[in-house]
Amino acid sequence: MKSKKTYSTDYHDYVIKDGRLVGQFEEMYVHSAEVPWHQDSQSDWLDVRLGCELMADAAPFDFMLDFAMGLGYYVETLASRLGSSSTIVAGLDVSETACLRGKERFPRIRCDAFDLAVEPGSREVPPAAVLPEGTARPLYALRATIWYLVPFLEKAIANMAGAIRRGDFFLLSQNFPPLDSEFVGKEEIPGPERLLEYFSPHFEVERSMWVRHHLSRGNDNWLIARLRRR
Ligand SMILES: C[S@@+](CC[C@H](N)C(=O)[O-])C[C@H]1O[C@@H](n2cnc3c(N)ncnc32)[C@H](O)[C@@H]1O
Repeated sequence: MKSKKTYSTDYHDYVIKDGRLVGQFEEMYVHSAEVPWHQDSQSDWLDVRLGCELMADAAPFDFMLDFAMGLGYYVETLASRLGSSSTIVAGLDVSETACLRGKERFPRIRCDAFDLAVEPGSREVPPAAVLPEGTARPLYALRATIWYLVPFLEKAIANMAGAIRRGDFFLLSQNFPPLDSEFVGKEEIPGPERLLEYFSPHFEVERSMWVRHHLSRGNDNWLIARLRRR
């Protein structure tokens, strides 16, 4: 008799394990026993509040899109703080299950499954990321996702840039482990300045913040940057 395959219910097992990137996000959303990364309880995190402050003078935005929205909590938070009642809220994610669950939780979200690893220009921009007619002031965002994109970071950034018009805003928010520790992705991105350099062919940095947590050995140091599409 064939033995039934068992799946871990610990979301960490699908992300980074034993010092290497696993990156099985669809399986993670299907099998995880808890909300991965506790996305549902981050709306008051410092980086989220600071990101909103950084964008406040350019608000209200009438379209918001998170390029790796997970379950949609972050983009909904942005929309509630930087949007208006008519703001169109959208997201992409590599996981179909994340998109479906995000839509269940937040029915107004437009979401499509999309892998930022695809060859730039090889696919149509997914419908959720197409700027709807009549919207003029979009805000695009990517938060807490860079370490999963490292093996194809230039492609991922080109894919995001391909969906954004010249001059439009992009809010980048990324946490780092202590820079003096060993971490997956350090070779490519040893610190925040290097990450901004990856974006520089397509985006200009308007303002950025590097917020260190001096007492934590966790992923608690944040780069928050307000970029504009070149
Ligand atoms: C830590 S979660 C962040 C979710 C949300 N942005 C937030 O801040 O709450 C990272 C998300 O990136 C997605 N992701 C990972 N690799 C991706 C890829 N290649 N293309 C698109 N999304 C990806 C994962 O499925 C996951 O939902």
